[in-house]
Amino acid sequence: MGQEVKVERYGLVAQGFHWLIALLLLGLFVTNTIREMVPEESESVWLGLHMSLGILVFLLTIARLGWRKLVPPPVLIDAPKWSQVAANAAHVLLNLSTLLVPIFGYLRVASKDYAANFFGLQIPSVTGQMQGLHELMEDVFHGEPMEIFLYVLIGLHVVAALWHQYVLKDNGLRRMLPW
Ligand code: HEM
Ligand code: HEM
Repeated sequence: MGQEVKVERYGLVAQGFHWLIALLLLGLFVTNTIREMVPEESESVWLGLHMSLGILVFLLTIARLGWRKLVPPPVLIDAPKWSQVAANAAHVLLNLSTLLVPIFGYLRVASKDYAANFFGLQIPSVTGQMQGLHELMEDVFHGEPMEIFLYVLIGLHVVAALWHQYVLKDNGLRRMLPW
């Protein structure tokens, strides 16, 4: 009633999932950076927190995708076909990343035959010692290439959101904001 522009928004729950997962991802990069900087004896505290936040991202992504089935997102903004295809592809890759990167993180630990830590709860290794798997996770899927991939993907996603909001002025960002 009396609103100046009508914006087709994501629901509040979908928005909550989105921003919580985004915040946790920030926490994951931060805990990882701190772990690299602190003395060796306190490294495990930060790694424990990193694992816990990562597993939380995994669980929240499952819940988010479940919710998405129940309450489908609004139709995409009216934009050229290529732009809609790119947006859909980015969203699929982002959801896949928040699902698979934690699994790869777990495998990085499990393949050393260590238990993972979820806020104090020990999650035992299902693989036992597997050197080949460990190297694959450390060198590729839960290592630097994954990190760069995520920076690029999230970077493009953020630039696209800001571009829609401030250059195209089609309220792209407000679709994910309650106001
Ligand atoms: C979305 C979730 C996650 C993100 C974005 C993430 C991100 C990262 C990044 C960027 C690194 C540094 C990689 C490198 O340069 O070698 C890393 C390292 C690591 N992550 Fe994750 N991670 C996530 C979840 C997890 C989970 C769930 C676990 C375990 C259960 C985990 C365990 C590890 C371990 C063991 C390392 C290596 C630490 C070391 O160098 O000693 N991560 N993670
Ligand atoms: C940092 C990690 C982030 C992840 C993993 C992420 C992931 C996602 C995913 C998967 C969707 C699609 C939702 C769906 O339909 O299921 C989405 C939508 C969206 N995201 Fe993000 N996002 C992140 C950060 C951000 C940031 C920082 C911004 C703002 C600057 C942003 C703005 C948006 C907007 C505006 C939409 C709605 C797009 C539309 O109109 O359909 N996201 N995000």
